[in-house]
Amino acid sequence: KDIVMPQHFLTILDFSKQEAAALLDRAAAMKAVDYRSDLLDGKTCILVFEKASTRTRVSFEVAVRHLGGWPIFMTQNDSQLGRDEPIRDTARVLSRYADCLIVRTFGHHKLEELAAAGSIPVVNALSDEYHPCQIMADLLTMREHSGGLEGLTLAFVGDGNNIAHSLINAAARFPFRVVVAAPKGYQPDPAVVARAREEGADVAVVDDPAEAAKGADYLYTDVWASMGQESEQAIRARAFAGFQINDALVALAKPDVRVLHCLPAHRGEEITDSVMEGPHSVVWDEAENRLHVQKAILEWIFTKGK
Ligand code: CP
Ligand code: NVA
Repeated sequence: KDIVMPQHFLTILDFSKQEAAALLDRAAAMKAVDYRSDLLDGKTCILVFEKASTRTRVSFEVAVRHLGGWPIFMTQNDSQLGRDEPIRDTARVLSRYADCLIVRTFGHHKLEELAAAGSIPVVNALSDEYHPCQIMADLLTMREHSGGLEGLTLAFVGDGNNIAHSLINAAARFPFRVVVAAPKGYQPDPAVVARAREEGADVAVVDDPAEAAKGADYLYTDVWASMGQESEQAIRARAFAGFQINDALVALAKPDVRVLHCLPAHRGEEITDSVMEGPHSVVWDEAENRLHVQKAILEWIFTKGK
């Protein structure tokens, strides 16, 4: 049997432009028919989550079932990961039992180690640096609401975190502009911005939310303190004061601006209740699209090069 290199999905840059566009087409088609298949018949996908999750965990478990496979969910609390068995050792063992690893962890380098150490595909279900599955669902949502992505401007307001980084990566694969407004000290990693620009991304980084919001088609925000940064909550709340999506900021954007949030949201911090529940919010469509996109990602991983 030929040895086929596993197809990992660690960042959006793992897709070519053609693959990225095809993935959204496929996810939309799957959504239209509430797709089911037996592609993963007899196959097991292990979710290894070192951080909490509602959407990513459940949408992946459901997606695996919709494709005919079997998901197993593991956390550090109920496995030897919590007793310091290295994630790379865990991966090598799990590679012998299962067909795919879907991993939520801290440092992104851990995912790269897993991909290198194991022999089955690894999917990034969020790392400190990137959240590619989320951003593919966001792009599907934007396409649905705007008819396409060409020429759109998305303003991300808040922390230059994993969500911001994956949005910046997305701008290297899709024809839209990303403007990140973040306070100094919390701006996206310049290396991520530089790499995306080298690959053609239209990205700007500013420190004024109003400047970013002006004329935007989409406003996007995320929590000020990500998982793992809980002890910085107070200091971050001070740094991010003013970096809130509220009615005043929405009023600066295009009249038909749509508001995205990956969720979970902290109403009254990065976004107001009024915007979350208001007419511009598309956050529930966005959350639903996680499921459809996860199915398309799994299908891509299991069929690419086969
Ligand atoms: N947006 C997102 O990844 O949510 P969860 O943390 O609930 O998976
Ligand atoms: N930036 C957030 C995203 C949660 C989906 C975090 O990493 O906690």
